[in-house]
Amino acid sequence: MTSRLWREVRSAGIGRLRAAAEVDDPEQELRWIIEQVGGHSGAEQAAALDDVATEREWGHVEEMVGRRAAGEPLQYVLGRWGFRTLDLLVDRRVLIPRPETEVVAGLAIDALAALGRPGIAVDLGTGSGAIALSLAAERWPDVEVWATDESADALSVARANLAGLGRRAAVVRVVEGDWFGALPSELRGRIDVIVSNPPYVAEGEPLPDGVAEWEPRAALVPGPSGLEAIEHIVAEAPGWLTGSGTLVVEIGATQTVATGGMARAAGFHPVTIHQDLAGHDRVLVARAAAGGRAGHR
Ligand SMILES: C[S@@+](CC[C@H](N)C(=O)[O-])C[C@H]1O[C@@H](n2cnc3c(N)ncnc32)[C@H](O)[C@@H]1O
Repeated sequence: MTSRLWREVRSAGIGRLRAAAEVDDPEQELRWIIEQVGGHSGAEQAAALDDVATEREWGHVEEMVGRRAAGEPLQYVLGRWGFRTLDLLVDRRVLIPRPETEVVAGLAIDALAALGRPGIAVDLGTGSGAIALSLAAERWPDVEVWATDESADALSVARANLAGLGRRAAVVRVVEGDWFGALPSELRGRIDVIVSNPPYVAEGEPLPDGVAEWEPRAALVPGPSGLEAIEHIVAEAPGWLTGSGTLVVEIGATQTVATGGMARAAGFHPVTIHQDLAGHDRVLVARAAAGGRAGHR
């Protein structure tokens, strides 16, 4: 390989990304790719355009640009993505954490803060650990967090992210299993907040470009109706929550009536729906009503 200036590496990369249909902002994406390769911020990159890129740096940028131009999501190409206060490792073993899920985590954090005492929280279907680790990072040391998933692959990613939490990691337990089946029975009736972003896309429902092809199907589609996982979680949650515990579940924008009905039928009161940043109905928040079915053990 001959040497190349960063200016040349940059224009070649932008040219390839521009030709790829999925890439809306080639300049910005290339900035992120170069930042990942060399650790240089946008301003540093602008100041270094006439510096020579090493062969390793140039080759690495080309490899990442090639993957992105082939349609792989930017987050997997970079191998990391921001979620609330965290910089998470992500790859094809886990769903890419979404901005709407930051709202879900925020509502769970609010419910923990409202306790006015240390609390126990469970994140069902933790994937990369986005929600569970946000609870630990933002409520430490006043929280004990259980992060579950049925996917051993996903939990490997969650554990790698947990290692990045430093001493706050001590409040998190990572456990494998099918929804509540992952939890020790001693937690029954003792959990203050159950939070989940379960799969909620119906079989056959169209998914945005790239999602079906690259992201794990088990993280997206629970069954024919799309409601199967939420129904299971809502029905089982009362047996695990304290008498005044809170269930926080991400839902599809068209699932408000169905999921609200499930929560009321399980004895939760009140049941409220919150919107995501785009204004779509996105989060079910349901309070265990002590004395109602949800308060009985
Ligand atoms: C929509 S993803 C959410 C991942 C992560 N919590 C987030 O918000 O980015 C759903 C997660 O639920 C997990 N999952 C699917 N079925 C499950 C089951 N039966 N028991 C436990 N976890 C399950 C998937 O492996 C996936 O990690």
